[in-house]
Amino acid sequence: MNISVLGTGRMGQGLVNVLAPHYSGLVWASRTPEKAEGICRKRGWTGVMTSSYREALNADIIFHSFWFRDLIPWAQKNEKRLAGRILVDIANPFTEDFSDFTLDWGQSAAEELQKMLPHTAVVGAFKNTFFQVLEQPLHQGEKSDIFVTGDDGEARRTVLNLLKPLPFRAWDSGNLENNRTIERMTLFERELAIRYGNYPYVSYRLFGMDEYVI
Ligand SMILES: NC(=O)c1ccc[n+]([C@@H]2O[C@H](COP(=O)([O-])OP(=O)(O)OC[C@H]3O[C@@H](n4cnc5c(N)ncnc54)[C@H](OP(=O)(O)O)[C@@H]3O)[C@@H](O)[C@H]2O)c1
Repeated sequence: MNISVLGTGRMGQGLVNVLAPHYSGLVWASRTPEKAEGICRKRGWTGVMTSSYREALNADIIFHSFWFRDLIPWAQKNEKRLAGRILVDIANPFTEDFSDFTLDWGQSAAEELQKMLPHTAVVGAFKNTFFQVLEQPLHQGEKSDIFVTGDDGEARRTVLNLLKPLPFRAWDSGNLENNRTIERMTLFERELAIRYGNYPYVSYRLFGMDEYVI
């Protein structure tokens, strides 16, 4: 299985940090691949291959790390290249100042993306994992939760399996529609983390749930 991560921002870098130890040959793409190369050198990520966005779309499973406002035009432009692939969506559609959602109640970024890409299996994940948690996934020895959603059950299970070796608890979280809740949970989590002084190191962990069996 070929895996790629698109974008060298906070989440892109964090995703590479948690995926690269388990998937050698991981492809990391940027508008400026030299930036990705420089980060790889600095962080000692010798098994990571850097590329353009276009090349990275040859992977079977693609993790994007774009803002929702950039994601939709990008998806529109690349609909054909993304056909038949799994696209992991981490976007939360928030206003620039994080004060609100940019979509209506009854909508989510993941569902809008899936509508735009009918021949791609969109799988939501990492929507509630703030970037610093990707840098240090365990808190007091405990893993946090990732809610994995997708209308294509096989694609959802593929991503759940892929995430299994990572230091998180990944839950089968049902259809993309659940992102109407999951994405909004990130705004709530952010507000709490700021109030209690630990933003941006915050993620959910459900009480009473055992480690998953797929
Ligand atoms: N920040 C968090 O803690 C967090 C948590 C959960 C979910 N998310 C979601 O993750 C996504 C990324 O968040 P982030 O904090 O990682 O953002 P960020 O640091 O700003 O990174 C976004 C990356 O998108 C790439 N990009 C591609 N096309 C672009 C364009 N036209 N304009 C600007 N950048 C473009 C850039 O990578 P290149 O320059 O390499 O091309 C950029 O570094 C958002 O959808 C957010 O809702 C974030």
